[in-house]
Amino acid sequence: MKINWRRRPFSLEIRLTFFISLATIIAFAAFAGIMLHSVQNHFAEQDIKNLEQINTTLSTILENPDESGQQKVEKIGIILASYRHISVLLLDPQNQVLYRSTDGPNLMPVLATTDFSRKLSSGNIFLWSDKMSQTTYRIIASSVASPYNEKTATDTLLIALSIDFHLHYLDALKHSLLMIASVMSLLIIFIVLFAVHKGHQPLRNVSMKIKNITSENLDARLEPERVPIELEQLVISFNHMIARIEDVFTRQANFSADIAHEIRTPITNLVTQTEIALSQPRTTKELEDVLYSSLEEYNRMAKMVSDMLFLAQADNNQLIPERIPLDLRAETIKVFEFFEAWAEERNVGLQLEGQACIVEGDPLMLRRVINNLLSNAIRYTPEGSSVTVRVHERDEWVALTVENPGLPIAQEHLPRLFDRFYRVDPSRQRKGEGSGIGLAIVKSIVSAHQGKISVVSDAVSTRFTLCLPRLAAGDRKTP
Ligand SMILES: Nc1ncnc2c1ncn2[C@@H]1O[C@H](COP(=O)(O)OP(=O)(O)OP(=O)(O)O)[C@@H](O)[C@H]1O
Ligand SMILES: [Mg+2]
Repeated sequence: MKINWRRRPFSLEIRLTFFISLATIIAFAAFAGIMLHSVQNHFAEQDIKNLEQINTTLSTILENPDESGQQKVEKIGIILASYRHISVLLLDPQNQVLYRSTDGPNLMPVLATTDFSRKLSSGNIFLWSDKMSQTTYRIIASSVASPYNEKTATDTLLIALSIDFHLHYLDALKHSLLMIASVMSLLIIFIVLFAVHKGHQPLRNVSMKIKNITSENLDARLEPERVPIELEQLVISFNHMIARIEDVFTRQANFSADIAHEIRTPITNLVTQTEIALSQPRTTKELEDVLYSSLEEYNRMAKMVSDMLFLAQADNNQLIPERIPLDLRAETIKVFEFFEAWAEERNVGLQLEGQACIVEGDPLMLRRVINNLLSNAIRYTPEGSSVTVRVHERDEWVALTVENPGLPIAQEHLPRLFDRFYRVDPSRQRKGEGSGIGLAIVKSIVSAHQGKISVVSDAVSTRFTLCLPRLAAGDRKTP
């Protein structure tokens, strides 16, 4: 069993929901991150300001030469009493403790940290975690010039602020932001899913309407103005497609009816003719006349049937023309020879203009095209006038124009002239003037040669122009 590895693409709903939700979640995360960062910074700034303030106050007291050590310690004690979470350690140059807060952590281990030894003189601020109490402190370490008995010693002052209450607050904030963001994200995913599902409703409506179109109601159309703008073009294209299908469908349906109609008329003629002939005794000459007349009708039917077979072949793409280089002008002369007698009989002139033009094609089929165009032209040319055939090269095309004066064909008929059984004046058929297949065959042959055919009709003349791809100079062989 062959496994199909190519997976179906994800549904539009999943894709849209995923991307919109992802964008929202990223936005939330960014917002929460920025907020936490800014609160953290705010606390840090506040702590540092407080520490610096206390540091300045304590340094001023310690550096005062007019007070004794005892007085300074008392003062420091009074000041520290008004602060919470603050501990102080004062060391002499030999790191002997001169003063330490009664409660609070043992700050001696701070001396061993690299943060402490960095830049002591300018008020070094850093974080330190006390392993004993599992508490984090922000510490300011500075040097103090203390006067001792007319000498000045550089003491070390450490002031520690416990920032655990800030960290707890930040943790709680992080936790609640995470909770809120998760709940909101879930909510958003559901809302987006719902919105996307709702947003696709028009698409489902359109597909439902399309589903309901069958061969029974091919005339149904979707309304482009009642769908969202994004679907408008799709609906318009769909309507065009259905219109084309309907057209082909109607033609097919008409074709069968037309065939039946076209065959019925000559058969009715034959039946009537034979019945009349049989209604009374006839002479051999009379019977011969009837048989000749019948033969004419048989021939017409045979031609029609073979024409229809030819078209059926074209429909099934079985019309594969030979590709032989040939001169359109020379082919036209051959067809002229064939029609000479009939044209003379109708007092219609045949004129040919233009140079030899080489195309590649099937000689029999192309002669049939010229034949059909010319037979129509001669038929519709008033007595005493001429049919003109022009062969000329135009860009990469070779054009053959068959032009005849006569009554113009009304504009509304022109687009349908190449349809099967289409006649401008249907009553003509009864006069035995062709079955309306000629131009349909012309079109099939021209299409099989990758050519184009067009018609123009005005008060002066009717012109059929056939264009075939020109044979490139390098490809030319003598026809
Ligand atoms: N040169 C023309 N001038 C005026 N009308 C034309 C001309 N050529 C074609 N037509 C009109 O186009 C219709 C279709 O032509 P087409 O050749 O397909 O059928 P037909 O000549 O009636 O029958 P068939 O060619 O099968 O014997 C004709 O019935 C005629 O009304
Ligand atoms: Mg014809």
